Amino acid sequence: MMDNLDGRVAVVTGAASGIGLAFTERFVSEGMRVVMGDIDEAALAREATRLEAAGADVVGVLTDVRDPSSVEALRDQALSSFGSIHVVCNNAGVAPAGPMVETTPADWRWVVDVNVLGVAHGVSAFGPLLVEQGEGHIVNTASEAGLVTNDFIGVYCATKHAVVGLSESLWREVHPQGVGVSCLCPSFVNTRIFESQRNRDDGADIRPNEAAVLAPLREVIEATGLPPSAAADAVVDAIRADRFWVFTHEFTPGLAAARHADIEAGRNPTDPYAVLLGGLETTEDSGDT
Ligand SMILES: NC(=O)c1ccc[n+]([C@@H]2O[C@H](COP(=O)([O-])OP(=O)(O)OC[C@H]3O[C@@H](n4cnc5c(N)ncnc54)[C@H](O)[C@@H]3O)[C@@H](O)[C@H]2O)c1
Repeated sequence: MMDNLDGRVAVVTGAASGIGLAFTERFVSEGMRVVMGDIDEAALAREATRLEAAGADVVGVLTDVRDPSSVEALRDQALSSFGSIHVVCNNAGVAPAGPMVETTPADWRWVVDVNVLGVAHGVSAFGPLLVEQGEGHIVNTASEAGLVTNDFIGVYCATKHAVVGLSESLWREVHPQGVGVSCLCPSFVNTRIFESQRNRDDGADIRPNEAAVLAPLREVIEATGLPPSAAADAVVDAIRADRFWVFTHEFTPGLAAARHADIEAGRNPTDPYAVLLGGLETTEDSGDT
């Protein structure tokens, strides 16, 4: 539906860093005008200024996706700057880590507000416009963690499962009306996602173990994570092909299949990553149900 991106307008949340910044850069290279929304005012100003100096048609709008009126203001600013909107990327997200039994109500609220309601606010603010024009594409950034589960990032997993679910339902509703929906489920991409506490402003205490839990995750993401441009390339392909599922890593569907095999067999959760690496006993093999 959206095979020609040249001259179109994209709105990206979480655009000042990582995957959202890579979306912005790739869209600009396709000849699009881009409205960049982010809560990090300094990074947003820096990146928007850098891109503008290089000739890009971008606008930075300070946005907090937790606040529906802020997301509506992002939409209104996009319309007043560029007159129309074609692609909306609900991408801003945060990823604290730690045992679920140590997770406080304030932790839950922050992550659900950004990762779930942030996407929902984007759907509410931009969806009616795209449906009315009978054209457009919504990209929701979920995660591989929205298809499988992990210990120590349980809150994040829960929110990303919600993004997958809401995106599938959204596709069913708006695709027949001419609006595409893609659900991006990245595995490790080398960004600042495991430094999300920089985006937290509710004054809550950081869990004492959080740094220790995040340290190895940061090491893995830095050592093995794909460049963010890989996620942007996959998303542009998906928009052009009108494809719902977007993966950065070939093994992700296999991990999802391993989880679904547990569900079909009615057995306790296997570690899908152990199955992926092979040679490790699954719960079925071990007879542990
Ligand atoms: N990097 C990975 O390995 C990976 C894997 C799976 C999914 N994701 C998802 O990709 C998305 C982008 O994350 P990233 O990896 O680029 O991390 P990142 O930390 O580099 O970028 C996230 C951006 O979101 C912004 N943000 C945070 N809270 C916000 C709020 N309330 N309102 C507006 N903006 C806010 C941050 O300022 C930052 O610019 C997230 O949804 C993340 O969960 C990342």
